[in-house]
Amino acid sequence: MRLENKVAIITGAGSGQGRASAKLFAKEGAKVIIAEWNEENGKKVEQEINDAGYEALFIRTNIAEEENVLELVNEVMDRYGKIDILFNNAAIGFSARSKYKMAPLLETPLEDWNNILGINLNGTYLMSKHILPIMINQKSGNVVNNSSLNGLLGVTGADAYSAAKGGIIALTRVMAVDYGKYNIRVNCICPGAIDTPMISEVLDDPEIAKNYEAGPLGRVGKPEEIANAALFLSSDESSYITGLIMPVDGGWSAI
Ligand SMILES: NC(=O)c1ccc[n+]([C@@H]2O[C@H](COP(=O)([O-])OP(=O)(O)OC[C@H]3O[C@@H](n4cnc5c(N)ncnc54)[C@H](O)[C@@H]3O)[C@@H](O)[C@H]2O)c1
Repeated sequence: MRLENKVAIITGAGSGQGRASAKLFAKEGAKVIIAEWNEENGKKVEQEINDAGYEALFIRTNIAEEENVLELVNEVMDRYGKIDILFNNAAIGFSARSKYKMAPLLETPLEDWNNILGINLNGTYLMSKHILPIMINQKSGNVVNNSSLNGLLGVTGADAYSAAKGGIIALTRVMAVDYGKYNIRVNCICPGAIDTPMISEVLDDPEIAKNYEAGPLGRVGKPEEIANAALFLSSDESSYITGLIMPVDGGWSAI
């Protein structure tokens, strides 16, 4: 029970890494808020967790809409009176189903650039902006941001996505420096290729899958492996760690 009685908000918890984290955090004793814009998936995860005898609450949220974020924060405060953990996990990514094409800079229209930055970077900014004051007031809090290897390395072909993820890394460091004095820790995970709906279509292409599997551990990661890292960073086991940019990538960034 490493998160006993903690209140944890996880954005994008209707799928992939967020879903795996929601299940693990709940099992470890947290009351988990699923802040997700996909109602069907959010409700499904809420039910899975509650049916297993743990505690979860789905609140439909678009992290890119400030009003929506404020509504979420107010609802959580009304219900639980505190927020211990924020896992800024939601993002739009590589799926061909995505409305926005992932492309190199010269092929990225301004509209796509703005939309990708508007969700992936602004969402982390807005959630943090409205939850940090509560954590400052509590004199405790824990923020984990989900970036990507794309934020660390020059991964070709998704320039707006990479810029957003790089922004999240910079934001993590400055938030850790600015808010450490309030006993708030801020850390960041940089996943490598993780088998979730975000990249499932990409993984269906054997050539691309082969490339993703070419890291030192020779395989793509599982969402549960990111959840384990998020749990470590959210729990007291990492009590002296803040400002960490942690690749969880099967060794890709070591090459
Ligand atoms: N899968 C990978 O290979 C990989 C690699 C590196 C980083 N990441 C990052 O990991 C995080 C989790 O992604 P995943 O792999 O689980 O993908 P996923 O697509 O399975 O899950 C992302 C979730 O975020 C939600 N979401 C998107 N925009 C939202 C918004 N505006 N408001 C609320 N919810 C929103 C989606 O509905 C979805 O449920 C993302 O930040 C992603 O960029 C993924």
